[in-house]
Order: sequence, then C-alpha cells, then structure tokens
Amino acid sequence: MKNASLYNKAKEVLQNNWRAGFSIPCAKLYPFQWFWDSGLIAIGFAHFDMQKAEQEIKTLLDAQWGNGFIPHIIFHTESDTYFPGPDFHRSDLHPQSSKKYRSTGMTQPPVTGFVLEEIYRISKDKEATLKFIEDLIDKVYFNHDYFYRHRDPENEGLVYIYHNWESGTDNSPIWDDIWDTMNPPEYTFERRDTTHVDASERPSKREYDHYLYIIDIAKEHNYSDEKIAELSPFLIQDPLFNAMLIKSNESLLTLYELIGNNEAKISQLKQWQEKAINAFNKKLYDEDLGAYVHYDLRNKRPLRFLSSSSFAPLFANIPGKERADNMIKVMMNKFGKESQYLCASFDPDSERFNPKKYWRGPVWINLNWMLFDGLNRYGYTDIAERVKSDSIEIIDKNGFYEYFDSRKEVHKAGNAGYGGNNFSWSAALLIDLLEKN
Ligand code: DGY
Repeated sequence: MKNASLYNKAKEVLQNNWRAGFSIPCAKLYPFQWFWDSGLIAIGFAHFDMQKAEQEIKTLLDAQWGNGFIPHIIFHTESDTYFPGPDFHRSDLHPQSSKKYRSTGMTQPPVTGFVLEEIYRISKDKEATLKFIEDLIDKVYFNHDYFYRHRDPENEGLVYIYHNWESGTDNSPIWDDIWDTMNPPEYTFERRDTTHVDASERPSKREYDHYLYIIDIAKEHNYSDEKIAELSPFLIQDPLFNAMLIKSNESLLTLYELIGNNEAKISQLKQWQEKAINAFNKKLYDEDLGAYVHYDLRNKRPLRFLSSSSFAPLFANIPGKERADNMIKVMMNKFGKESQYLCASFDPDSERFNPKKYWRGPVWINLNWMLFDGLNRYGYTDIAERVKSDSIEIIDKNGFYEYFDSRKEVHKAGNAGYGGNNFSWSAALLIDLLEKN
C-alpha cells in the first residue's frame, strides 16, 4: 500500500496510547479518556484490532450516568499532569453520576452513534459486529434521549451546550463574544497544559478563569440540567455538536433497522430527526454568510462567524443540494486558497484568526475527516480528495500532531505541527482516510 510506513506509524501511535481498556488522546497533556476522542480512535482501531475498537466503546459507555449522560473526561487513573482534575470537577455532586468512575460533569459531541456504524462498515465479520452493537446500542439511544429531554428547554429539536469544553472547539474565537458578557473572578491555579506545550498554542490564563467559573456555577447546583439552563452564562446551540447528534441519530436508525424489532425506538428517532433537521436549517443557517453559525441561547442572538464547524452539517446531510453548493463555494473562497491547507478551524480573513493557537485557526484532522465525507456525499469528489491529500501531507511532513498551521509557507520553513504530538485521533483518522482509497 502507498504510504505503508505512515500507516504503520499511525498504528504505533494508537498502540502506545492504549491503556487498560481505553485510549488516551496523548501522553501528559491528556492522560485520561475523552468522549469524542474515544469514539474517533475506535474507528482507527477497527481497521486492525477490532477487539480494542469494541473495548474502547464499551469502556466509554460503562461510564454513562443514570440519566443517560456521558461525561467528557473519564478519570480512570490519578494523574498530576492535568488540570483541572477530578477533585475540581466533582462529578459525585450529581445524584445520578457514575459510582464506578470519577468524571467531569460536562459532555462532548455525541459521536458514538455514527462511530458504531463506521465500525460496522469497516468490520469483516458483520455478524459478530452486529451482535456487539446490539448489546450496547440502547445506551447510545438513552444518551440521545438525555439530550432531547434535558438540553432542549424550548423544545425546538436543537440541544444546547453549557461549556466551551463541551463543544470540542475549546477556545474558538466565537466564544470571545460570550466572555465579553462575563466577569469571572481571577482564579489561582497551576496550569499543567502549558508545561507540556508552548503557551502560544494554548488558551490564555484569563480564558481559563471563564472556563472554571462556568463549572463552579454548575457545581453550586450539583450539575442540575434545569439550573444550568437557567443560570449558565454560556448556553449555545452549536452547529458542530448538533450535526454530530443528527448524524448519530441517522446511524442509530440504520443500525436498529438492521437489528430488527425496535419499532418504538425507530419511530422516536425519526421524530427527533425530522424536528432537528428542520430547526437546524431554519435557525442556524445564515443567508448572508452562506453557512451555518452558532446561536447564543442565553443572549438570544446568532454568533455570526465562519469556522470549520460551519461546514460540519455537510457530514450529517443537513443542507439541501443548492444550499450545500453555495456553502462549498463560500468555504473554497475563504478557506480553500492555494496558499492554505484545508481546512482552517476559523475564518482566515477574520482579525480573530490565529493559525497557531488551538481552535483559533489551525487545521484539525477530525474536522477534515468529516469534511472529506461530507464533500463526497454532495458530489464534490475533487475537493474531498484535496482535503484528504492535505491531511496526509501535513501529517507526513510534521508528525501526528494535535493540530497544524493552515499556511503552506510555514510548513516549508520547518515544523508546523502544534499542541500534543503522537495524538491518537490524528493517527486513527489517518488510517481510515488511507483505507478509503
Ligand atoms: C483541555 O484540557 O484542553 C481539554 O481539551 C478539555 O477537554
């Protein structure tokens, strides 16, 4: 196979990040199990070690709370290389939190549904894999039920996130507008991330004050969803998060049909899906920008910025063909110039763009992987191929970094990979992209 040595290096990254029954995203910087990382990592493992792929998901779902919630970090071990750890998050405050695992009290993009379908697609023993899926699919369904019951206070079909760490796009410039509405205290704490990674590539101390303050508000109310909906200064309907939920709904529908005998769940999923897609297209599409944007539910306003999240709905088949055509034009004009790798995480023409800082501009492999699929879905195979070859090239040149500079000229000058190295989902999704020949 072309790129065989890169493929083997990717396997090695995953093998080295494997712990007892789950994977860490990367050593030191992220030493526990993360929700959406875990899902995407399982897709990589499915290509060469199905047992680990299955175990990854089993462990994740084993940490589900009594109300269906799945936490964003599961603290399987003690580690002093990460802040804020379990003693800060105090998941035990919630009456239905897991008694077995300590975790955070926030979640992350719900990838599990579509990950199960991906694992099924990759599997060479469909019967055995369907049996594995049958044993745990109801937990994923229960997680979606949690979202629609507790995260949609206006019963719109769109769910909110209450923390930037729930979005996955932790320090996106979009959140700057929320920080402007808050004035948190100055916390005293010892950052660990900036001892592993250059501070210029990570969020600022003041941003962390905001992050901690929102958690404190949630903790004051024992992570009650109702109180969070009432009081959290951060309450966002995020197009990436909601697209992941919609994509996962679709996968659950497909998988339940394959399993059979699940009429009530299938009919509920169809209802969620119809409502969600309608609301998404009505509320989150910005005609002037020509793409989807975030909605600030707390302050009742759209946050009108283009980011890689604006195009994630392509992956979930949300826009009609005409709208998708228009979005892809917008994307190529802004993010697709010849001097740029696809796809920067934030609008390269914006003054808030920073090509080195985490989610404020760099290219991320997970968003590229979704974009690749979405572009193919709408018939844009050439652009999809560019997303794939850009992803392979930046990893090949720099290593399995967490994120990469979008400016091609910077890659010519030396290392342009940032954040953690030997990062699991960069390896896992590279394997999947290479397999998609
Ligand atoms: C971090 O610590 O930066 C993580 O992304 C939180 O999920």
